[in-house]
Amino acid sequence: MKVAIASDHTALPMKDEIKSELEELKIEFVDLGPFSIERVDYPDFALKVVELVASGEVDKGILICGTGIGMSIMANKVKGIRCALAHDTFSAKYTRLHNDSNVLALGQRVIGHGLAREIVNVWLNTEYEAGRHAVRVQKIADYENERN
Ligand code: RB5
Repeated sequence: MKVAIASDHTALPMKDEIKSELEELKIEFVDLGPFSIERVDYPDFALKVVELVASGEVDKGILICGTGIGMSIMANKVKGIRCALAHDTFSAKYTRLHNDSNVLALGQRVIGHGLAREIVNVWLNTEYEAGRHAVRVQKIADYENERN
């Protein structure tokens, strides 16, 4: 599995923390920035990640901003992206089981680093259940295909 990760300037410390978790999990990743505390716009960094996910160059994406909300709004504009904003492990688990989410959004200002690492761990280690959920996920894809 290969993961792409990015944040905005507010979330650099949490990005570093998540990178340590990925290293511990021995999961290959690419850090798409930013690499300094200079102000940036979260939509630009969300797009860097989700375009790699949408093209299949990476399997999953992780996005971090102050709340995680701006990143998730931008990510979900892109066809094929199912981005989940999850600040608890239950949601992280079930968004993989039921929604087959391919991008996770987190808020640096919302939760601590320990919980963020746990959420990433659960999210990356939970497989999509498919079955009855596949019909629902397909409806999302059908809507995207009809609109684009
Ligand atoms: C940046 O100030 C802040 O708006 C951003 O990190 C994020 O929280 C947006 O949703």
